[in-house]
Amino acid sequence: MNFDQIIDRRGTNCTKWDMMGAPSVGVSAEDGIPMWIADMDFEAPDFLQEAVHGLVERANYGYFIGEDSLKERIAWWMQTRHGWAADPASMSSTYGLGNGIALCLQAFTQPGDEVIIFTPVYHEFAKKVANAGRTVHESPLVIRDGVYHMDLDALGDSMTGREKVLLFCSPHNPAGRIWTAGELQALAEFCARHDLILLSDDVHNDLTYPGETYVPIPVAAPSVTNRLVMLTSASKTFNVAGTRLGTITIPDDGLRAKFSAVLTGLNIQPNLLGLVLTEAAYSARGAAWVDELRTYVAENSRLFLAGTSEIPGVTPMPMQSTYLSWLDFTNTGMEMGEVIRRVRQDARIAPSIGADFGTGGENFLRFNIGTTRARVLEAVERLQAAFSDLQ
Ligand SMILES: Cc1ncc(COP(=O)(O)O)c(C=O)c1O
Repeated sequence: MNFDQIIDRRGTNCTKWDMMGAPSVGVSAEDGIPMWIADMDFEAPDFLQEAVHGLVERANYGYFIGEDSLKERIAWWMQTRHGWAADPASMSSTYGLGNGIALCLQAFTQPGDEVIIFTPVYHEFAKKVANAGRTVHESPLVIRDGVYHMDLDALGDSMTGREKVLLFCSPHNPAGRIWTAGELQALAEFCARHDLILLSDDVHNDLTYPGETYVPIPVAAPSVTNRLVMLTSASKTFNVAGTRLGTITIPDDGLRAKFSAVLTGLNIQPNLLGLVLTEAAYSARGAAWVDELRTYVAENSRLFLAGTSEIPGVTPMPMQSTYLSWLDFTNTGMEMGEVIRRVRQDARIAPSIGADFGTGGENFLRFNIGTTRARVLEAVERLQAAFSDLQ
């Protein structure tokens, strides 16, 4: 696969490129580099194109079956890629994972209940909790040896007794930290001690860098499966987020019954395109493609971190996975308003704003490096130029 090939996504109703001019993004797509929303600029691989062509050739888009074989395929992927023996019978399909999180909040919490999140984290976590009328309970991550760590002691001290759910991101977005089995076990014990349901959003689990190993919670801490909900999707790995399909795996019968009741009540069902593409993705050809992609993204990360670390005062967080790089501007001594102005107006780059990721994100910007190598290097040059006055 030629990940260096540039495809023009402008004018295709593409959020990342065609929303750049919006005030919240603020950089024209004409000469700007979009490094915000989490999708990749690569052309879809041939095995996905063939699946779509197969669908088109049938020339009929009526009602369909096939969710059972989809679940078998997902189970195969989780077993072969991650050593997790997920039971197809414990899986449900949702309209993407944002929808999956929102449905879990409906199923497992009441208005006013608190939901714990480790900040800074994917900004939609807090939004989904607030949109549901539940309360966000932030547990700020601490930086040790340059990377994020959970502080379960501090979290324990801050508990109010109203917490029902802990919404976790594994690997972590931003910066792609891969939690160790020991950390996951400690988290599982914490959830058991405080009687919390653990929602683990593992959407980024496939994009580990060569040599790095992600461990799913059911593998690291099997004893927690009676309170565990796993959220997975092919959307980030294969860049099929537009097809809106998420998988919610709930081993415990009682918890799954609660979730299923919400799904049935709202008549949530998988869609045809998501089903066809996910089945095509979770395949031997998909696995080979992902391995190439991991190598490419890891090299993007190496170059982006090396280049941006040359800017005085900028500290890129080391990455183990994902295409979501996280830069700390604290030591530039600059107001973040000025940092953002320089990145948008001088460098002509649209990043994600760190403050949106919750407490601890204020002095950071997130840069999506899931794009061509040339564009990553161009972004580095532009950032170096925009801050060239710093000593
Ligand atoms: C951790 C995490 N969960 C969920 C999503 C969104 O999932 P979906 O597009 O399936 O709603 C994202 C997108 O960036 C994400 O980073």
